[in-house]
Amino acid sequence: MMEAHGKMLSLTAVAAMLLFLISGISPEVRQTDLKYVGANTCAGSCHRSEAQGNQYGIWEESKHARAFQTLQTPKADSIAKAGGYITPAAETPNCIKCHTLGRDFSETEFLGSFDLYQGVQCESCHGPGSEYRKLEVMNNPELSSAKGLIVHMEKEKFCINCHNPESPTYFEFDYDPMWEMIAHPKPK
Ligand code: HEC
Ligand code: HEC
Ligand code: HEC
Repeated sequence: MMEAHGKMLSLTAVAAMLLFLISGISPEVRQTDLKYVGANTCAGSCHRSEAQGNQYGIWEESKHARAFQTLQTPKADSIAKAGGYITPAAETPNCIKCHTLGRDFSETEFLGSFDLYQGVQCESCHGPGSEYRKLEVMNNPELSSAKGLIVHMEKEKFCINCHNPESPTYFEFDYDPMWEMIAHPKPK
C-alpha cells in the first residue's frame, strides 16, 4: 500500500515534470487543442481486434511498452549516475524523454486516460489521439497531417529520433529487422 502510494506520487512528479518540459520547449504550440489519450483508448474496440490487426496486442508485447519500467531498475539508475545525473533514472528528464511519450514532443496536454507508465506508445509515433481517433481523420493522411499528426513518410529517420548514440546503451540501428520486431500492419 505504502509502496503503491509512493509510486503514485512519483508518477505525479514525472507528469508535472513532463508538462514543465513541454511548456518550456515551445509555449506557442500549447495553444493547440490536441490531447494525448493513452494507449488504452487507442486499443478501444478497434486496435485490439484481430480483424483490425491487433496493433495493441503487438505493441503490448514489445519493449516499447515497458520502456518506462526499464528506467525504474538498478541498472538504469547506475547508467544515470555514470552519466553524471543525481536523480534516479525515472526522474531524470534526459532519460524520460526517450522512454515515455517521446522526445521533442511539443504539443498539448494529457487526458486522464494517458498513462506515462505505458512507455513508448501509440501516440509517441502517431501523434496525439484526440483528433486522430476520428475515423475521417485516421483514414485520411492529408487531413491527419494538416492536423499536425504524424504521417510516416520516412520511417527510419523517425526511429532515429530515439535510436541514436545519445542513448547511453545505443547499439547500431538496423531498420529492417528492427521494424520487423514491432511491425503491426492492418490485414489486407
Ligand atoms: C520515443 C522514442 C522511440 C522511438 C520514436 C522509437 N523507439 Fe524503439 N525503443 C525506444 C526505447 C526507449 C527502447 C528500449 C525499451 C526498453 O528496453 O525498455 C526501444 C526499443 C526498441 C526495440 C527493441 C530492441 C530489443 O533490443 O529488443 C525495437 C525492435 C525498436 N525499439 C524498434 C523501433 C522502430 C522500428 C522504430 C521506428 C518505427 C522505433 N523503435 C522508434 C524508443 C523509441
Ligand atoms: C515505435 C513507433 C510506433 C508505435 C509505438 C506504434 N506505431 Fe503504429 N505505426 C508506426 C509506423 C512507423 C507505421 C507504418 C506506417 C507506414 O507503413 O506507412 C505504423 C502503422 C500503423 C497502422 C497502419 C497499419 C497499416 O498497415 O496500414 C496502424 C493502424 C497503427 N500503426 C496503429 C498503432 C497503434 C494502435 C499503436 C499502439 C497500440 C501503435 N500503432 C504503436 C509506428 C508506431
Ligand atoms: C536518445 C534517446 C534515449 C535517451 C536520451 C535515453 N535512452 Fe535509454 N534507450 C533508448 C533506446 C532507443 C534503447 C534501446 C537500446 C538502444 O538502442 O540503446 C534504450 C535502452 C535503455 C535501457 C535498456 C538497455 C539494456 O541493455 O538493458 C536502459 C537501462 C536505458 N535505456 C536507460 C537509460 C537511462 C538511465 C537514460 C538517461 C541517463 C537513458 N536511457 C536515456 C533511448 C534513449
